[in-house]
Amino acid sequence: MSEVAQRILELRAELDQHNYRYHVLDEPSIPDAEYDRLFKELKQLETDNPHLITPDSPTQRVGSLALTAFDEVKHEVPMLSLGNAFEEADMLSFDRRVREGLDLPSGDLFGGGAEVEYSCEPKLDGLAVSLLYRDGLLVRGATRGDGSTGEDISVNVRTIRNVPLKLQGEGWPAVLEVRGEVFMSKAGFEALNERQLALGGKTFANPRNAAAGSLRQLDSKITAARPLEFCCYGIGQVEGELPQTHIGILQTLKDWGMPISRELKLAKGIDQCLAYYRDIGERRESLAYEIDGVVFKVNSLASQRELGFRAREPRWAIAHKFPAMEELTELLDVEFQVGRTGAVTPVARLKPVKVAGVTVSNATLHNMDEVARLGLMIGDTVIIRRAGDVIPQVVQVVTERRPADARAVSIPENCPVCGSHVERTQLVKRSKGKESFVEGSIYRCVGRLACAAQLKQAIIHFVSRRAMDIEGLGEKSVEQLVDEGLVRSPADLYTLTFDQVVQLEGFAELSSKNLLAAIADSRKPTLARFIYALGIPDVGEETAKLLARALGSLERIQQALPEVLTYLPDVGLEVAHEIHSFFIDPHNRQVIADLLERGLQLQEEGELHPEFAACTTLAGFIDKLNIASIAATGAERLAARFQSLEGIIQADWLDLRQVERLNEKAARSLRDFFDDPANAERALAIEAQLRDFGMHWQSEKKQVEGLPLAGQTWVLTGSLEIMSRDVAKEKLEGLGAKVAGSVSAKTTCVVAGPGAGSKLAKATELGVAVLDEAQFIQRLAGYGIEV
Ligand code: IVH
Repeated sequence: MSEVAQRILELRAELDQHNYRYHVLDEPSIPDAEYDRLFKELKQLETDNPHLITPDSPTQRVGSLALTAFDEVKHEVPMLSLGNAFEEADMLSFDRRVREGLDLPSGDLFGGGAEVEYSCEPKLDGLAVSLLYRDGLLVRGATRGDGSTGEDISVNVRTIRNVPLKLQGEGWPAVLEVRGEVFMSKAGFEALNERQLALGGKTFANPRNAAAGSLRQLDSKITAARPLEFCCYGIGQVEGELPQTHIGILQTLKDWGMPISRELKLAKGIDQCLAYYRDIGERRESLAYEIDGVVFKVNSLASQRELGFRAREPRWAIAHKFPAMEELTELLDVEFQVGRTGAVTPVARLKPVKVAGVTVSNATLHNMDEVARLGLMIGDTVIIRRAGDVIPQVVQVVTERRPADARAVSIPENCPVCGSHVERTQLVKRSKGKESFVEGSIYRCVGRLACAAQLKQAIIHFVSRRAMDIEGLGEKSVEQLVDEGLVRSPADLYTLTFDQVVQLEGFAELSSKNLLAAIADSRKPTLARFIYALGIPDVGEETAKLLARALGSLERIQQALPEVLTYLPDVGLEVAHEIHSFFIDPHNRQVIADLLERGLQLQEEGELHPEFAACTTLAGFIDKLNIASIAATGAERLAARFQSLEGIIQADWLDLRQVERLNEKAARSLRDFFDDPANAERALAIEAQLRDFGMHWQSEKKQVEGLPLAGQTWVLTGSLEIMSRDVAKEKLEGLGAKVAGSVSAKTTCVVAGPGAGSKLAKATELGVAVLDEAQFIQRLAGYGIEV
């Protein structure tokens, strides 16, 4: 057999295989761009060697076999495919062929020639569907199949929200077959994949696969739950009258309730088509759905009839394709990067490949679970996808092309940067009153700030604008400071000297002075900024603000038990544990102590937020313990009956059986829970902290009522000379007042001693009453308090 004949057989076998995977299994294993190349190669070989063409060649048919599980549908009018144009030149020859076919005068050097009217539409990336309406009622939905026989998917099609089950208005043909694309929007696709991941189901590589997989479900309930949409672009069989232009038809269909593209336009001549292609191309990323090109059709139906068909493609239409979003390349290696919180994440190093005009040589792999999900091995041929501004992703492995020497990807035991141990993170789960740890998908280097990668990222985060806002310290300089050992922790920034800074690359005398001034200026951050700057995993700006506002002081935040933190809105057990373990870590404690010792003064430290202080009830507390069989109502009954945690812990079986409507199972479960001394101890510790923080359901709040200063908030500032601040605070609290650390509109009165600064200024600005120490003592005397 000749080499050419051999290659032709190979290509056919490969294309047949891909056709089957694409059309029958809904599991394509190569990107469209690769399929197109193989197809083109085969077509060229067959054109050059026409004697080798056989009727079973993939070039001789349009689609593929029907999926056997659905009934067959014969298309009265075949569902055709479109010729492709990739270059402007292809488009110019298409237009020339059209004009020749219509016997229109061609232009000369001076332009001229007759212009053809074309309709312009985006080429949606989904799957072609035929909808049959009889007397305005949807009677059948079908896939394209091989173009002449498709699958009956009526039940599934009926679940698509924007497919009219009944046409609006009147005057529709007795029989009307509408054709169009079923697709999934980008947002729908993302949401579906997220849902699939959460449920442990399979995810889809792209919106087109997701649409295909959703539409061809044997269980139409699944289809109904998928975000599918329909867009009409043409007609098939018709018995009745319709307008005589393509755009006219689509507009009429629209009046009958059929969704059509909002981008449908009329172009006069090929230049306007090319302009349309460029315009849509520029907006491609911002469209809500994926498109792989635009489609141009001769607008006049009379002209369409005159032009007719060639093989199974109309001579009057063409698809002008955009560069593919997916490409094939080789996975050269997987490297591991260490992030700010120590997360060790795999990154794919790829053989550089152009994807939609951009050269891609790296792709994110997210985490080891993703590597496992993809079944990725080094040496594999992979499909890379670049959509929008998103970092390129590996969406699929082409297992058929796996080389014999492919290597497994494994997480390194030691950090690639510092050599410390790499540990798998644990997730906290709580069910039936028991906390348990399950393996997370993230691995972390335990080196913390001893790891140069983490230290650099930590410093970059610490100085960033929304954190400590130290201007003049770029990434390069941070790297130098760390590499030269000048900075080993964020605290070291505050002992940097002029001589150390000025020797850094890019620093001169003035810039060094400026940097040191910026560092000095950052010494008085708000509590929220400081917490954010620490870079606690999962604690962004909002959570940091929340912590600061609710707990009011670094000390309380540092001490807070995870359960207490979960009283904060939006703080779940997971994040609460991250915060707690950050602050009990001796290394982190040391960094914080060093920072404070080197002169950092936190602003806005003060009281627990009143709302937060008032958020606990005994019943809510019991509910939070998550004891099996004790739901919210059970917790309420227990609280009402025993009034205290202590009481509940000590309640014996008989006491519990007397609680109204608390069943035996619940009583037993409660006993079992508190019989474990660890549980009882933990509950009491949390309760003690709530009391300590003033959040306890029985805290002094109530006893304060009736005291002369109840409900008032006082602020002490400057130095008091006759009594210490602590004594002043004690006296005020004894009178029922709250003593806060910062002045706000809610402040009742400020006591200002010599040296008072911003708080006094704020009080004056807000018109809050201000007393000096002598006046304060006089006021106390008025309440019978001697100093
Ligand atoms: S017209 C005879 N218009 O592209 C004309 N097709 O490669 C038949 N497609 O099977 C199709 N958007 O699934 C047409 N605006 C559009 C389209 C479109 C997407 C798909 C359709 C078709 C394939 C042809």
